[in-house]
Amino acid sequence: MSDHYAVIGNPIAQSKSPMIHGMFAQASGQDMTYTRIEAPLGGFKDAVDAFRAAGGKGLNITAPFKLDACDYASERSRRVQLAGAANAMKFVGERVLAENFDGVGLVRDVTHNLQCALKGKRVLLLGAGGAARGALLPFLAQEPLELVIANRTLQKAFDLASIGAQWGRVRSSSYAELAGHSFDLVFNATSASLRGELPPVPASVFTHCSLAYEFAYGKGLTPFLRLARNSGVNPLADGVGMLAEQAAEAFFWWRGVRPETRAVIDKLTVPLV
Ligand code: ATR
Repeated sequence: MSDHYAVIGNPIAQSKSPMIHGMFAQASGQDMTYTRIEAPLGGFKDAVDAFRAAGGKGLNITAPFKLDACDYASERSRRVQLAGAANAMKFVGERVLAENFDGVGLVRDVTHNLQCALKGKRVLLLGAGGAARGALLPFLAQEPLELVIANRTLQKAFDLASIGAQWGRVRSSSYAELAGHSFDLVFNATSASLRGELPPVPASVFTHCSLAYEFAYGKGLTPFLRLARNSGVNPLADGVGMLAEQAAEAFFWWRGVRPETRAVIDKLTVPLV
């Protein structure tokens, strides 16, 4: 019988994970199935219990259950402990292992696919929510010259920078304080783009910038990317590579086989125009 995996969330119809893992499985000859589970709000535990009872081997977790997955696990990686959130689980007997591959997927996309090193660079991260938190440790592991976290609610940026301080050079900033400062790499981890909004970032941050990266994917030229483009930044990237790479990390964790991501990225890419 095939090993069974799924992605769990609410809503879940929009998830690309079944398609991505289906492509990975086919290309690597893995005997597995991968479906969607829409758990009711407050119903995460029951849904996962039922999935495990039916022999399920692993899950991806998406909104709004990433914190529930962290609580549900019996073993949490350091990345999960830091992020307080998990996006993948593996079931081994009674053990429930939790991982968070969002940040490592992002770093692999930037350093491998986009061929852009973080080491020694001045890096600006916009936002201090769950997405930014997931990127913190993987970013600092790359040893940037400096990581600046800017957020509307300054206290959240300060708290995140305080957590990161033990791993590398990181500080918080308001948006206003960014005026006149430039960064080598700028990442938008806010959820502003999902509503077509622009975080109040001054265009000066792009003056010497060699990559503007939008965490959201499939939205085309978001207001953030448009501002970067109009400031002369090249290349621009959205989160399609991050999506594919975090999936590849989970696939490798589950199956012991590292899938190629290029075909998935090509299939899901929406032109940035
Ligand atoms: P996610 O899991 O996507 O990170 P989240 O944890 O709700 O979602 O965090 C959303 C992030 O986007 C926060 O950093 C939020 O800023 P605040 O903490 O100040 O609320 C940021 N954000 C959302 N809309 C924004 C906007 N229009 N401009 C700037 N930042 C915005």
